[in-house]
Amino acid sequence: MSRLFLQARNLVKRFGPTAAVNNVSFEVKKGEVLTLLGPSGCGKTTTLRMVAGFEQPDEGEIEIENTVIVSAAKRIFVPPEKRRMGMVFQSYAVWPHMTVFENVAYPLKRRGVKKAAIQEKVSQVLELVGLGKMESRPATLLSGGQQQRVALARALVYSPQILLLDEPLSNLDAKLREQMRVELKELQKRLSITVIFVTHDQIEAMTLSDQLAVMNLGEIHQIAPPREIYERPRTRFVQEFIGRVIWLEGRLAELAPGGASVEIAGDEPLSIFSRRISEDVKKGDDVIVGIRPESITLAKEKIAGESNQLPCLLEKRLFLGDRIECHLRYGNARFTLATPITESFSNGQKVCLCLPPDSVFIWTKPTGLTE
Ligand SMILES: Nc1ncnc2c1ncn2[C@@H]1O[C@H](COP(=O)(O)OP(=O)(O)OP(=O)(O)O)[C@@H](O)[C@H]1O
Ligand SMILES: [Mg+2]
Repeated sequence: MSRLFLQARNLVKRFGPTAAVNNVSFEVKKGEVLTLLGPSGCGKTTTLRMVAGFEQPDEGEIEIENTVIVSAAKRIFVPPEKRRMGMVFQSYAVWPHMTVFENVAYPLKRRGVKKAAIQEKVSQVLELVGLGKMESRPATLLSGGQQQRVALARALVYSPQILLLDEPLSNLDAKLREQMRVELKELQKRLSITVIFVTHDQIEAMTLSDQLAVMNLGEIHQIAPPREIYERPRTRFVQEFIGRVIWLEGRLAELAPGGASVEIAGDEPLSIFSRRISEDVKKGDDVIVGIRPESITLAKEKIAGESNQLPCLLEKRLFLGDRIECHLRYGNARFTLATPITESFSNGQKVCLCLPPDSVFIWTKPTGLTE
């Protein structure tokens, strides 16, 4: 087991009346990647900037290897330059009037490192990020991906204890982004460096993280390894934000320790059994039911003796080359489901969805959500 490296406890940051970051706590182990994932404006950058020291929290504290580096209550604040952290900013800001070498050497120069040592260290990190032959090139003549590497090299050059990366791949096109994602993961593993990574891209978050923190409106909804987040979301927001979900509405008819039954609103009275029930739902509540499409199987007709079968109308089928997209309707609920091209359904026919009880999630119906 790796050691605990950084601990953030109950961080709050207000800009005016609203809290941009509201009671956020997390831990990062040495050599691990923690990702902050969430929609625009949810407080990712603000959280990262508090870790880096560019923003002071109104409440809460941060500890590195059991030493408090910032605490609102104890009035402790270690300035950014004393934190031994490397940061790549959201707009990664490579300085255009400098060469690649000068850009990367800058943090060392500011720290008064000797010329020979600078030369050696800069060459080393440029090699590491694949820019070994571009030392003297002016930064203005670099592609987006190369600028990205310069920013990364600049953050790595003084051997930080932790790397803070704020959407470092967001300015790249899709193909380069994919390539850099793989390179970044390899580099992180090779250096065994601890990383806090910020993104709103779920693929990046799933592939790069050891631990994934899903944020919304200044709060962390869940922190867990990516697979656990996907398979066992703790809130409706987490389930919706990551992966695809099919939603149905209903009413909680029965609630027992091992599971619950929901009466689904639709064409005919129907009850669905689930083993994944949000803690706040009570018998009789209006609920919404979330199901991952890949956990559903589609049958031609009801299978005798099986429960959790949802009769649907197959309204339309679209051939997409590698799969068929089935447009289905149950009552007012419409959704799509991909099937293999070998299936032999036809438009307008009745089909039956089989919903495994472990894949059916029940959440409180949010107020304001109408039919
Ligand atoms: N210096 C500031 N002054 C006032 N409000 C701010 C400031 N910085 C951030 N905010 C507000 O705080 C909230 C969180 O901003 P933050 O930049 O942390 O979000 P984010 O999750 O990084 O979003 P994005 O994905 O768009 O980068 C937003 O509502 C933002 O407008
Ligand atoms: Mg941001």
